[in-house]
Amino acid sequence: MTINRKKSQTASAPRRLPRYTSYPTALEFDSLDPGLYAQWLKDLPEGPPISLYFHIPFCEKLCWFCGCFTKISNSMEPVQRYLEILRKEIHLISRITGQKKVSHIHFGGGSPTIIDAESFTRLMDLVRESFDILPDAEIAIEIDPRTCSEEKVKAYAKSGVNRASFGIQDFNPHVQEAINRIQPDALITDNIRWFRDGGITDINFDLIYGMPRQTLETIEETVVKTNGFRPSRIALFGYAHVPWMKKHQQMMDKHHLPEQGERQAMFELASRKLQEFGYQAIGLDHFALPEDSLITAREEGRMRRNFQGYSADPATTMIGFGASAIGSLPEGYVQNSPDLKSYVDSLEKDVLPARRGLKVDAMDIMYREVISTLMSVFAVNPWAIAKKHNITHDFAAEKVDLEKLVAVGYLDREGTTYGLTEAGQPYLRAIATLFDQYFPQNSDIIDRCVHESEG
Ligand SMILES: C[S@@+](CC[C@H](N)C(=O)[O-])C[C@H]1O[C@@H](n2cnc3c(N)ncnc32)[C@H](O)[C@@H]1O
Ligand code: SF4
Repeated sequence: MTINRKKSQTASAPRRLPRYTSYPTALEFDSLDPGLYAQWLKDLPEGPPISLYFHIPFCEKLCWFCGCFTKISNSMEPVQRYLEILRKEIHLISRITGQKKVSHIHFGGGSPTIIDAESFTRLMDLVRESFDILPDAEIAIEIDPRTCSEEKVKAYAKSGVNRASFGIQDFNPHVQEAINRIQPDALITDNIRWFRDGGITDINFDLIYGMPRQTLETIEETVVKTNGFRPSRIALFGYAHVPWMKKHQQMMDKHHLPEQGERQAMFELASRKLQEFGYQAIGLDHFALPEDSLITAREEGRMRRNFQGYSADPATTMIGFGASAIGSLPEGYVQNSPDLKSYVDSLEKDVLPARRGLKVDAMDIMYREVISTLMSVFAVNPWAIAKKHNITHDFAAEKVDLEKLVAVGYLDREGTTYGLTEAGQPYLRAIATLFDQYFPQNSDIIDRCVHESEG
């Protein structure tokens, strides 16, 4: 059977290349009835453990580069009100799903560190009462070192948190000034000590390249300092500049933003240095020490792409809690209302706050695995994946593009497996679009590699 690529629901003008933390991407989500979401939750299969994601959309101070869904709050009152509503959502969902087994929990934001120690403990107690958290579950939390404290870390450790993901971004004081995020080295040293002393030794650092005032020298300084702390995992994100969506990013317009060539050089320098320090490169933008669970997952073919980037989490269902949170269920994707007021209003009426989403079909699920495999291990045999899914598909349109990419040296081919070459690595996201049934295929794949924005 030959299946034509689907028509994108969005405009056909060149668009930014997706990061494929989901497939289909969130751009394709449409309105979704909360009643349908309730049915999807009811239909979750017994047995396989699930993941839970909690979104805390508050921060104390706005970083000018920030692309996350968050609100600035100088008082704890809105945070406490939000936590009460989040508790309501946990009650409502667990009443529908029953006490499901959970293998992975992630607190993201915004800044979950804004929650005080006692409220965090109460929240985790409720999660434990509502779900069956497996003894070896990973419980991860995103840390803004500026709003963390020793008391909070003690509460995390007591509640079973076992992975901390630090927003570091850059160690250079001039860059920190340009991005409105002052974060002295001593603060990071204290934070890391609190976590390691508390027994939370799986530490991630988030770094960003491509921001104002960053140079090859500042990037090298940041990577050397990062190595001094020896986090087991590092995410090295390219700065996404989207001032039309995130107006505050215009605050940085007075500075020079590195061009694409400079960004590429920054990434290559950081990547080379990290590998010299013993980190292994993973997928698009992650690095890990050999003992990190992501390396084992990759070696065993279990590593997957999800909303947190790359994950060793075996669960295929993720339930999202909180305003704007996205979940992934066997039937499709669901996103809660990003509008805090309507999120609260729904839950006050005991209605699930789901607003957008997408029902997936068998082809979406098959293509999701093709894209996730390519993004994770840089090689893919689409025919083998289709066969695994009991789908007969000749990938005729894709094959033309794949062969063009082989001809220019961005891919190589062994049998029916296509692998990314070193020359092709900067174009991974563009190459993945050729399998995206919703991406407008109106530009030549080679032009798309060279010209379309990484963002
Ligand atoms: C929700 S934030 C992390 C937790 C916490 N709020 C903090 O900043 O410390 C997740 C990560 O997204 C990344 N990030 C945020 N805005 C970004 C942007 N515009 N481009 C690339 N990465 C971004 C940062 O590395 C950040 O650490
Ligand atoms: S980067 Fe993190 S701390 Fe800064 S505003 Fe965004 S979510 Fe908040």
